[in-house]
Amino acid sequence: MTEPLLKVRGLGKHFVNAGQTVDVLSGLELTLAQGESLALMGRSGSGKSTLLNILCGLEQPDAGFLSIAGEHFAADLSASGPNQQRWAMLRRQRIGVVFQEANLMPALSLLDNVRLRARLAGQSDQHCGDWLKRLGIGELAQRYPDQVSGGQRQRAALAMVFAMRPSLILADEPTGSLDARTALEVVDELFHQQAASGCALILATHDSTLAARCGQRLDLAQMGA
Ligand SMILES: Nc1ncnc2c1ncn2[C@@H]1O[C@H](COP(=O)(O)OP(=O)(O)O)[C@@H](O)[C@H]1O
Ligand SMILES: [Mg+2]
Repeated sequence: MTEPLLKVRGLGKHFVNAGQTVDVLSGLELTLAQGESLALMGRSGSGKSTLLNILCGLEQPDAGFLSIAGEHFAADLSASGPNQQRWAMLRRQRIGVVFQEANLMPALSLLDNVRLRARLAGQSDQHCGDWLKRLGIGELAQRYPDQVSGGQRQRAALAMVFAMRPSLILADEPTGSLDARTALEVVDELFHQQAASGCALILATHDSTLAARCGQRLDLAQMGA
């Protein structure tokens, strides 16, 4: 059997707030195979964003080990040197991230945003218009982010992520800023395209209906992490 896509072992992270140490994650274990989906649950402040931020390199863990797509890393992910370069390359090429608000470049059209993301991941930018079509916003390709709705921006953010052909998508409450109907449409697209492309997905959400659509579930609050 091949190695799982993502393996997290003994992951720990603390913050110091006003002189007080808070252990946000401790001894966290997680395994995800290619194509699987996992719902990351837990009350506000339980560490969902912290875990996703570690997995996409925005935060550095202070203990543990992880492997992604066959590359192994100890906790000092952001240490300088070859470890950091390997990690940066992996993130750029294999890990797609969707936040609560779409992080589009305001000076670029939706299509150019998708093209830029694809190129950064080392992919051809020829099919980026198709991704916008698949996400239902093909006719908005030449619009700028401030000329479309929040739901349409979030669809563009999904097109960006899928155009990079990632192995893993990290979605941090991706529909948290949308109304219920738009949220459902965007989430349907996320699951549909994830299944079609075969990438793995970690979805942080408060919504248990949404979590039920994922194959696995990890509740950080219950872990006391
Ligand atoms: N950069 C930071 N500095 C200090 N404390 C932080 C920082 N980021 C998160 N925290 C704290 O870590 C805990 C977990 O936060 P977070 O991961 O954002 O939770 P969630 O996404 O589940 O709501 C919270 O108590 C939060 O205040
Ligand atoms: Mg959060």
